[in-house]
Amino acid sequence: MKASPGSFPSGWFPVATSAELKRKPLRRQLCGIPLVLYRDDQKRAVALQDRCPHRSAPLSDGRVVGGEIECPYHGWRFGGDGQCTLIPFHDGDLPRRFVPAVPVEERHGLVFARHGDEGEIYDPFWDDDRKMLRKIIPTEVETSLINVMENVLDPTHTAFTHKTLMRGMTENRQAVGVELTEKRAGMLELVFTGEQRQDGLISRLTGDSDRTGNVTRILKPGIVEVVYSAKHRINIVTTIFFSPVDEGRTRGFIILTTPLKYGFAYIKSIVFIPIFRMIVEQDRKVLRASYANWQEFGSPQNAVSPHDYMRPNLEALLSGREPPVAQQPLSFSINL
Ligand code: FES
Ligand SMILES: [Fe+2]
Repeated sequence: MKASPGSFPSGWFPVATSAELKRKPLRRQLCGIPLVLYRDDQKRAVALQDRCPHRSAPLSDGRVVGGEIECPYHGWRFGGDGQCTLIPFHDGDLPRRFVPAVPVEERHGLVFARHGDEGEIYDPFWDDDRKMLRKIIPTEVETSLINVMENVLDPTHTAFTHKTLMRGMTENRQAVGVELTEKRAGMLELVFTGEQRQDGLISRLTGDSDRTGNVTRILKPGIVEVVYSAKHRINIVTTIFFSPVDEGRTRGFIILTTPLKYGFAYIKSIVFIPIFRMIVEQDRKVLRASYANWQEFGSPQNAVSPHDYMRPNLEALLSGREPPVAQQPLSFSINL
């Protein structure tokens, strides 16, 4: 795949967890562009395009010396701003050479890099002062950003792809109210109501008999956040930051937030994680197979049903256009 910015939304995307970023250079691709990430002497995260301007050696094959990155080929060095600071064996004034630097910021245990020149880092939602437990689960899926966002927002696949884990344990169907609105520019909100209980394992762990439904926020440049509540209190927030590697690969950094209580709720949240991982694996598998198949067939137009209402709204949101629901909010019922 050629390194080009392509047609990705601009904004802040996570490229690594804070824990995995060390002094040793790490190569990560964002929106088709390889980056080298490392920590300088003050332990600050640095991101540069991973190409030495001299003869294109990957800087990530080099090392960090005195907080600067040294190219493995002829030893040119570059500071965190990308400026060349040393050309070995060169006397006199240093010619101005540089590598494009990429803005980086660490938040929520993640290292965010900015693609394009706009946007802010989103803070995962939590609305009260209960102490919380946070867990980060990184993953990678071989499909496009929009395909994976559409997948996590799609309740109609759960009884099949995640049979017994999310839904599909029984043949009983319930009418579930679905509402999709534009909450503000750059943010959609999807609300499911009336589903007392999903007949799958996961809801036995996250909900209880007084399930009050879930609210999903969908934000530019690639964030999906599901807030599960029961008895009108939040019991789990799943915030997924998607990060396009290229057109056909997407990383996901899933942050699970739950109240930190030593008791049954805590135990439930511990059991939740392995089941959650199984669900992620099931999605990865079906998304990878479908994307590869779609390409093998020459990337045809996919057929749409009335349940595929998310797609045009996601396309508009990610490309900065006004989503159709901004003019006409959606509200209907679906038998799940
Ligand atoms: S290629 Fe990097 S110093 Fe020559
Ligand atoms: Fe799924």
